[in-house]
Amino acid sequence: FPLQTLNSLNIAAVTAEIFFPTTEQDLANIPQEKTAASYVLGEGSNTLFCDKKAPIIIKPNFKGIKITEDEHDFYLQVACAENWHELVMLCARRGINGLENLALIPGSVGAAPVQNIGAYGVEVGDFIERVSWFNFATRKQQTFSRQACQFGYRTSIFKQSLNGRGVITQVHFKIPKAWQPVVDYQGLKELPSPQTPENILHQVIALRQAKLPDPARLPNAGSFFKNPVVSQEVFQALQAQHPKMPYYRQNQQQVKLAAAWLIEQSGLKGQRRAGVGVHDQQALVVVNFNQASGEDVVAFAAYIQTQVQDKFNISLEPEVRFIRSKSTESCDTGQS
Ligand code: EPU
Repeated sequence: FPLQTLNSLNIAAVTAEIFFPTTEQDLANIPQEKTAASYVLGEGSNTLFCDKKAPIIIKPNFKGIKITEDEHDFYLQVACAENWHELVMLCARRGINGLENLALIPGSVGAAPVQNIGAYGVEVGDFIERVSWFNFATRKQQTFSRQACQFGYRTSIFKQSLNGRGVITQVHFKIPKAWQPVVDYQGLKELPSPQTPENILHQVIALRQAKLPDPARLPNAGSFFKNPVVSQEVFQALQAQHPKMPYYRQNQQQVKLAAAWLIEQSGLKGQRRAGVGVHDQQALVVVNFNQASGEDVVAFAAYIQTQVQDKFNISLEPEVRFIRSKSTESCDTGQS
Protein backbone atom coordinates (compact mmCIF):
# COMPACT_ATOMS: atom_id res chain seq x y z
CA PHE A 1 0.00 0.00 0.00
CA PRO A 2 1.62 3.32 -1.07
CA LEU A 3 2.09 6.00 1.60
CA GLN A 4 3.44 8.85 -0.54
CA THR A 5 0.21 10.87 -0.39
CA LEU A 6 -0.24 10.10 3.32
CA ASN A 7 2.85 11.97 4.54
CA SER A 8 3.53 15.67 4.00
CA LEU A 9 7.23 15.07 3.21
CA ASN A 10 5.92 13.04 0.28
CA ILE A 11 8.24 10.08 0.88
CA ALA A 12 7.41 7.14 -1.40
CA ALA A 13 7.33 4.51 1.35
CA VAL A 14 5.06 1.46 1.20
CA THR A 15 3.45 -0.65 3.89
CA ALA A 16 2.44 -4.29 3.74
CA GLU A 17 -0.75 -3.55 5.65
CA ILE A 18 -2.87 -0.57 6.61
CA PHE A 19 -6.00 -0.34 8.82
CA PHE A 20 -8.57 2.47 8.85
CA PRO A 21 -10.57 1.89 12.07
CA THR A 22 -13.59 4.14 12.58
CA THR A 23 -14.77 2.75 15.93
CA GLU A 24 -13.36 1.32 19.11
CA GLN A 25 -14.65 -2.08 17.98
CA ASP A 26 -12.64 -1.78 14.77
CA LEU A 27 -9.54 -1.16 16.86
CA ALA A 28 -10.32 -4.13 19.11
CA ASN A 29 -10.63 -6.32 16.00
CA ILE A 30 -7.06 -5.71 14.86
CA PRO A 31 -4.97 -8.73 15.97
CA GLN A 32 -2.60 -7.98 18.81
CA GLU A 33 0.50 -9.12 16.97
CA LYS A 34 -0.32 -6.49 14.34
CA THR A 35 -1.00 -3.58 16.70
CA ALA A 36 2.24 -4.42 18.51
CA ALA A 37 4.23 -3.84 15.32
CA SER A 38 2.25 -0.85 14.04
CA TYR A 39 2.69 2.88 13.70
CA VAL A 40 -0.32 5.16 14.20
CA LEU A 41 -0.51 7.72 11.43
CA GLY A 42 -2.60 10.90 11.54
CA GLU A 43 -2.29 13.21 8.55
CA GLY A 44 1.42 12.43 8.31
CA SER A 45 2.58 16.02 8.78
CA ASN A 46 5.20 15.21 11.40
CA THR A 47 6.40 11.82 10.19
CA LEU A 48 9.53 10.81 8.30
CA PHE A 49 9.42 7.33 6.80
CA CYS A 50 13.15 6.57 6.92
CA ASP A 51 13.08 3.48 4.71
CA LYS A 52 11.26 2.40 1.59
CA LYS A 53 9.38 -0.15 3.71
CA ALA A 54 7.17 1.22 6.48
CA PRO A 55 5.71 -0.77 9.40
CA ILE A 56 2.04 -1.79 9.59
CA ILE A 57 0.00 1.42 9.64
CA ILE A 58 -3.09 2.18 11.70
CA LYS A 59 -4.75 5.31 10.40
CA PRO A 60 -7.76 6.00 12.64
CA ASN A 61 -10.74 7.56 10.92
CA PHE A 62 -12.93 8.51 13.91
CA LYS A 63 -15.01 11.60 13.12
CA GLY A 64 -17.33 13.93 15.04
CA ILE A 65 -17.36 17.09 17.13
CA LYS A 66 -19.65 17.69 20.14
CA ILE A 67 -19.84 21.11 21.75
CA THR A 68 -21.41 21.90 25.13
CA GLU A 69 -21.00 24.78 27.53
CA ASP A 70 -21.66 25.98 31.04
CA GLU A 71 -21.46 29.40 32.57
CA HIS A 72 -17.66 29.65 32.41
CA ASP A 73 -16.40 27.29 29.72
CA PHE A 74 -16.95 25.60 26.38
CA TYR A 75 -16.40 21.84 26.26
CA LEU A 76 -15.49 20.21 22.96
CA GLN A 77 -15.23 16.50 22.38
CA VAL A 78 -13.41 16.03 19.10
CA ALA A 79 -12.68 12.73 17.36
CA CYS A 80 -9.07 12.07 16.39
CA ALA A 81 -9.42 12.21 12.60
CA GLU A 82 -10.92 15.70 12.52
CA ASN A 83 -8.57 18.22 10.92
CA TRP A 84 -6.86 20.58 13.37
CA HIS A 85 -7.11 23.81 11.35
CA GLU A 86 -10.76 23.19 10.49
CA LEU A 87 -11.46 22.85 14.21
CA VAL A 88 -9.71 26.20 14.85
CA MET A 89 -11.85 27.82 12.13
CA LEU A 90 -15.06 26.24 13.43
CA CYS A 91 -14.29 27.61 16.90
CA ALA A 92 -13.63 31.07 15.45
CA ARG A 93 -17.01 31.04 13.69
CA ARG A 94 -18.79 29.98 16.88
CA GLY A 95 -17.10 32.61 19.04
CA ILE A 96 -15.08 29.99 20.93
CA ASN A 97 -11.82 31.86 21.35
CA GLY A 98 -8.37 30.77 22.48
CA LEU A 99 -7.10 28.48 19.73
CA GLU A 100 -6.47 31.30 17.21
CA ASN A 101 -2.67 31.31 17.75
CA LEU A 102 -2.67 27.68 16.61
CA ALA A 103 -4.29 28.33 13.22
CA LEU A 104 -2.94 26.64 10.09
CA ILE A 105 -0.91 23.99 11.92
CA PRO A 106 -1.14 20.95 9.64
CA GLY A 107 -2.37 17.63 11.01
CA SER A 108 -5.21 15.90 12.81
CA VAL A 109 -6.76 16.59 16.21
CA GLY A 110 -5.61 13.19 17.51
CA ALA A 111 -1.99 14.03 16.70
CA ALA A 112 -2.13 17.42 18.41
CA PRO A 113 -1.62 16.19 22.00
CA VAL A 114 1.09 13.67 21.02
CA GLN A 115 3.67 16.35 20.47
CA ASN A 116 1.73 19.13 22.20
CA ILE A 117 1.59 21.33 19.09
CA GLY A 118 2.37 24.95 19.72
CA ALA A 119 2.86 28.29 18.04
CA TYR A 120 3.02 31.99 18.88
CA GLY A 121 3.07 31.49 22.62
CA VAL A 122 0.23 28.94 22.92
CA GLU A 123 0.35 25.15 23.28
CA VAL A 124 -2.61 22.84 22.72
CA GLY A 125 -2.09 21.25 26.15
CA ASP A 126 -3.23 24.55 27.70
CA PHE A 127 -6.76 23.80 26.46
CA ILE A 128 -6.97 20.03 26.87
CA GLU A 129 -9.04 18.72 29.76
CA ARG A 130 -8.54 15.03 29.02
CA VAL A 131 -7.65 12.56 26.27
CA SER A 132 -9.31 9.23 25.45
CA TRP A 133 -6.73 6.61 24.47
CA PHE A 134 -7.28 3.06 23.25
CA ASN A 135 -4.78 0.70 24.87
CA PHE A 136 -3.55 -2.03 22.47
CA ALA A 137 -2.64 -4.38 25.36
CA THR A 138 -5.95 -4.26 27.24
CA ARG A 139 -8.08 -3.37 24.17
CA LYS A 140 -9.92 -0.83 26.27
CA GLN A 141 -10.25 2.91 26.35
CA GLN A 142 -8.43 4.83 29.07
CA THR A 143 -8.75 8.46 30.07
CA PHE A 144 -5.78 10.74 30.69
CA SER A 145 -6.32 14.01 32.53
CA ARG A 146 -4.31 16.99 31.36
CA GLN A 147 -1.84 16.36 34.14
CA ALA A 148 -1.51 12.67 33.28
CA CYS A 149 -0.70 13.66 29.67
CA GLN A 150 2.63 15.11 30.94
CA PHE A 151 2.69 17.90 28.39
CA GLY A 152 6.03 19.57 27.75
CA TYR A 153 7.68 21.43 24.89
CA ARG A 154 6.69 19.36 21.82
CA THR A 155 6.19 16.25 23.95
CA SER A 156 3.71 14.28 26.07
CA ILE A 157 3.33 10.83 27.61
CA PHE A 158 1.96 9.64 24.22
CA LYS A 159 5.31 10.39 22.59
CA GLN A 160 7.29 9.00 25.54
CA SER A 161 6.31 5.94 27.61
CA LEU A 162 3.07 5.23 25.70
CA ASN A 163 4.70 5.50 22.29
CA GLY A 164 3.45 2.68 20.06
CA ARG A 165 1.14 1.30 22.73
CA GLY A 166 -2.22 2.72 21.71
CA VAL A 167 -4.26 5.28 19.79
CA ILE A 168 -5.71 8.63 20.85
CA THR A 169 -9.38 8.40 19.84
CA GLN A 170 -10.96 11.56 21.28
CA VAL A 171 -9.61 14.84 22.60
CA HIS A 172 -11.68 16.75 25.18
CA PHE A 173 -11.06 20.49 25.26
CA LYS A 174 -12.09 22.97 27.93
CA ILE A 175 -11.96 26.52 26.61
CA PRO A 176 -12.65 29.36 29.05
CA LYS A 177 -15.27 31.90 27.98
CA ALA A 178 -13.09 34.59 29.54
CA TRP A 179 -10.76 35.10 26.58
CA GLN A 180 -7.18 36.27 27.08
CA PRO A 181 -5.19 37.37 24.03
CA VAL A 182 -1.64 35.96 23.79
CA VAL A 183 0.33 38.51 21.81
CA ASP A 184 3.84 38.44 23.26
CA TYR A 185 5.28 37.04 20.07
CA GLN A 186 6.97 39.31 17.55
CA GLY A 187 4.51 39.87 14.75
CA LEU A 188 1.51 39.78 17.10
CA LYS A 189 2.77 42.44 19.54
CA GLU A 190 2.48 45.01 16.78
CA LEU A 191 -1.26 44.43 16.24
CA PRO A 192 -3.27 47.60 16.85
CA SER A 193 -5.56 47.50 19.86
CA PRO A 194 -8.16 46.48 20.66
CA GLN A 195 -6.81 43.03 19.93
CA THR A 196 -9.60 40.74 18.85
CA PRO A 197 -9.56 36.98 18.27
CA GLU A 198 -10.26 37.68 14.58
CA ASN A 199 -7.24 40.01 14.23
CA ILE A 200 -4.95 37.50 15.90
CA LEU A 201 -6.29 34.65 13.76
CA HIS A 202 -5.70 36.57 10.54
CA GLN A 203 -2.26 37.73 11.63
CA VAL A 204 -1.18 34.19 12.58
CA ILE A 205 -2.37 32.93 9.20
CA ALA A 206 -0.48 35.72 7.43
CA LEU A 207 2.72 35.07 9.44
CA ARG A 208 2.64 31.35 8.72
CA GLN A 209 1.86 31.80 5.05
CA ALA A 210 4.78 34.22 4.68
CA LYS A 211 7.38 31.88 6.24
CA LEU A 212 6.24 28.29 6.14
CA PRO A 213 6.02 26.50 2.80
CA ASP A 214 2.71 24.89 1.83
CA PRO A 215 3.33 21.11 1.93
CA ALA A 216 1.09 20.71 -1.13
CA ARG A 217 3.66 22.62 -3.18
CA LEU A 218 6.93 22.11 -1.28
CA PRO A 219 6.68 18.86 0.71
CA ASN A 220 7.83 19.42 4.31
CA ALA A 221 7.00 18.56 7.91
CA GLY A 222 7.11 22.01 9.55
CA SER A 223 9.95 22.54 12.01
CA PHE A 224 12.29 19.63 11.49
CA PHE A 225 14.21 20.07 14.77
CA LYS A 226 13.24 21.27 18.23
CA ASN A 227 14.59 24.55 19.51
CA PRO A 228 17.41 23.42 21.82
CA VAL A 229 17.19 24.24 25.51
CA VAL A 230 20.62 24.92 27.05
CA SER A 231 22.02 25.82 30.44
CA GLN A 232 22.67 29.38 31.51
CA GLU A 233 26.44 28.77 31.24
CA VAL A 234 26.28 27.44 27.68
CA PHE A 235 24.00 30.33 26.74
CA GLN A 236 26.30 32.97 28.20
CA ALA A 237 29.37 31.59 26.44
CA LEU A 238 27.51 31.57 23.11
CA GLN A 239 26.01 34.99 23.62
CA ALA A 240 29.42 36.50 24.30
CA GLN A 241 30.49 35.32 20.86
CA HIS A 242 27.17 36.04 19.11
CA PRO A 243 25.52 39.06 20.71
CA LYS A 244 22.69 39.08 18.13
CA MET A 245 21.66 35.49 18.77
CA PRO A 246 17.89 35.23 19.48
CA TYR A 247 16.88 33.41 22.69
CA TYR A 248 13.94 32.80 25.01
CA ARG A 249 14.56 32.51 28.69
CA GLN A 250 12.77 29.43 30.11
CA ASN A 251 13.60 29.87 33.78
CA GLN A 252 16.60 30.80 35.95
CA GLN A 253 18.72 27.93 34.68
CA GLN A 254 17.58 27.30 31.13
CA VAL A 255 17.46 29.22 27.88
CA LYS A 256 15.83 28.14 24.62
CA LEU A 257 17.77 28.94 21.44
CA ALA A 258 16.38 29.34 17.92
CA ALA A 259 17.36 26.28 15.88
CA ALA A 260 16.51 28.21 12.70
CA TRP A 261 19.11 30.82 13.58
CA LEU A 262 21.77 28.20 14.40
CA ILE A 263 21.12 26.48 11.06
CA GLU A 264 21.17 29.75 9.12
CA GLN A 265 24.40 30.87 10.81
CA SER A 266 25.95 27.53 9.91
CA GLY A 267 25.53 28.59 6.29
CA LEU A 268 22.83 26.04 5.50
CA LYS A 269 19.87 28.21 4.56
CA GLY A 270 18.89 27.46 0.99
CA GLN A 271 21.40 24.57 0.67
CA ARG A 272 20.25 21.44 -1.19
CA ARG A 273 21.57 17.91 -1.61
CA ALA A 274 20.03 14.92 -3.40
CA GLY A 275 16.62 16.57 -3.73
CA VAL A 276 16.46 17.68 -0.08
CA GLY A 277 17.13 21.18 1.20
CA VAL A 278 16.74 23.88 3.81
CA HIS A 279 13.81 26.19 3.05
CA ASP A 280 15.00 29.65 2.00
CA GLN A 281 12.43 31.54 4.13
CA GLN A 282 12.67 29.47 7.35
CA ALA A 283 15.84 27.54 8.03
CA LEU A 284 14.15 25.11 10.43
CA VAL A 285 12.07 23.63 7.62
CA VAL A 286 13.52 20.80 5.55
CA VAL A 287 11.93 20.50 2.11
CA ASN A 288 11.73 17.50 -0.19
CA PHE A 289 12.30 19.43 -3.42
CA ASN A 290 12.71 16.57 -5.81
CA GLN A 291 11.45 13.08 -5.00
CA ALA A 292 14.00 12.48 -2.25
CA SER A 293 13.85 9.15 -0.44
CA GLY A 294 13.57 8.72 3.31
CA GLU A 295 17.27 7.81 3.38
CA ASP A 296 18.14 11.07 1.58
CA VAL A 297 16.22 13.09 4.18
CA VAL A 298 17.82 11.19 7.07
CA ALA A 299 21.29 11.82 5.59
CA PHE A 300 20.55 15.52 5.06
CA ALA A 301 19.25 15.87 8.63
CA ALA A 302 22.47 14.30 9.93
CA TYR A 303 24.46 16.74 7.80
CA ILE A 304 22.59 19.70 9.36
CA GLN A 305 23.22 18.30 12.85
CA THR A 306 26.95 17.89 12.14
CA GLN A 307 27.31 21.42 10.79
CA VAL A 308 25.52 22.96 13.78
CA GLN A 309 27.47 20.75 16.18
CA ASP A 310 30.78 21.79 14.61
CA LYS A 311 29.98 25.50 14.63
CA PHE A 312 28.14 25.88 17.96
CA ASN A 313 28.71 22.61 19.85
CA ILE A 314 24.93 22.23 20.14
CA SER A 315 23.16 19.01 19.19
CA LEU A 316 19.82 19.45 17.49
CA GLU A 317 17.11 16.94 18.30
CA PRO A 318 14.59 16.09 15.58
CA GLU A 319 11.04 17.24 16.15
CA VAL A 320 9.75 15.12 13.29
CA ARG A 321 9.19 11.46 14.15
CA PHE A 322 11.61 9.06 12.44
CA ILE A 323 9.81 5.83 11.50
CA ARG A 324 11.90 2.83 10.48
CA SER A 325 10.71 -0.29 8.67
CA LYS A 326 10.61 -2.11 12.00
CA SER A 327 8.07 -0.64 14.37
CA THR A 328 10.71 0.60 16.80
CA GLU A 329 10.85 4.32 16.45
CA SER A 330 14.19 6.01 16.61
CA CYS A 331 15.40 9.54 16.49
CA ASP A 332 18.88 8.40 15.61
CA THR A 333 19.97 10.31 12.54
CA GLY A 334 23.36 8.69 12.37
CA GLN A 335 24.97 10.92 14.96
CA SER A 336 26.18 9.88 18.32
N1 EPU B 1 15.30 32.73 12.36
C1 EPU B 1 16.50 32.74 11.68
N2 EPU B 1 16.50 32.20 10.42
C2 EPU B 1 15.41 31.68 9.85
C3 EPU B 1 14.19 31.68 10.55
C4 EPU B 1 14.17 32.21 11.82
O1 EPU B 1 17.52 33.22 12.16
O2 EPU B 1 15.53 31.21 8.71
C5 EPU B 1 15.26 33.30 13.72
C6 EPU B 1 14.21 34.39 13.79
O3 EPU B 1 14.80 35.61 13.57
C7 EPU B 1 13.64 34.25 15.15
C8 EPU B 1 13.92 32.83 15.56
O4 EPU B 1 14.82 32.29 14.61
O5 EPU B 1 14.31 35.10 16.05
C9 EPU B 1 12.67 31.99 15.68
O6 EPU B 1 12.04 31.84 14.42
P1 EPU B 1 10.46 31.68 14.26
O7 EPU B 1 9.79 32.76 15.00
O8 EPU B 1 10.17 31.57 12.80
O9 EPU B 1 10.06 30.36 15.01
P2 EPU B 1 10.82 28.97 15.28
O10 EPU B 1 11.40 29.01 16.64
O11 EPU B 1 11.74 28.66 14.16
C10 EPU B 1 8.77 27.84 16.43
C11 EPU B 1 8.05 26.54 16.30
C12 EPU B 1 7.07 26.58 15.14
C13 EPU B 1 6.08 27.70 15.39
C14 EPU B 1 6.85 29.02 15.53
C15 EPU B 1 5.95 30.15 15.91
C16 EPU B 1 9.49 24.79 17.16
C17 EPU B 1 10.38 23.63 16.84
N3 EPU B 1 8.98 25.45 16.13
O12 EPU B 1 9.58 27.96 15.27
O13 EPU B 1 6.37 25.35 15.10
O14 EPU B 1 5.14 27.81 14.34
O15 EPU B 1 7.85 28.90 16.58
O16 EPU B 1 5.56 30.03 17.23
O17 EPU B 1 9.26 25.07 18.34
C18 EPU B 1 6.44 23.15 14.17
O18 EPU B 1 6.56 22.75 15.32
O19 EPU B 1 6.39 22.38 13.18
C19 EPU B 1 6.38 24.60 13.94
C20 EPU B 1 6.34 25.12 12.72
